[in-house]
Amino acid sequence: MEKTLVLVKPDGVQRALIGEIISRLERRGLRLIAAKFMQVSQELAETHYAIHKGKPFYEGLIAYITSAPVMAMVWEGPNAVAAVRQTMGATRPTEAAPGTVRHDFGLEVGRNLTHASDTPENGEKETALWFRPEELVSWERALDPWYFE
Ligand code: RTP
Ligand code: MG
Repeated sequence: MEKTLVLVKPDGVQRALIGEIISRLERRGLRLIAAKFMQVSQELAETHYAIHKGKPFYEGLIAYITSAPVMAMVWEGPNAVAAVRQTMGATRPTEAAPGTVRHDFGLEVGRNLTHASDTPENGEKETALWFRPEELVSWERALDPWYFE
């Protein structure tokens, strides 16, 4: 089953949007397999965003993600990566489609509320970066056959 790492970033936590965001993913039919509320260390932030090192927004991005706690989660399901990115909307809230999290709650790219893995490979890599294997819960939901064909 495809996995994706989802973060409710510090602005989402401070604005009390954790429940709203989890609710949207639950309603979509994705299955939660790991979650922790945590303060992101400088080291984890730099590893997670290594691909953006050197870009003009990098320093601000590291400051943002370490500025308050995040809610880190792993969700799984068929096409979980594409499904979650669609639910979150485009990176820039003013380009995100109506009905997406970033459209409905956001204005600026530097306060865009969530992170979601961008490929299935990165879903696996980021899951391994943020969670220990024993923190992943393998379970079957009673309604799985009504969500997954
Ligand atoms: P994410 O990784 O957070 O899910 O977002 P994404 O794939 O939609 O965007 P990405 O290109 O990976 O950028 C990561 C995060 O960096 C911040 N950003 N700021 N000021 C800027 O031009 C700019 N561009 C990106 C955003 O917080 C974005 O989510
Ligand atoms: Mg990204």
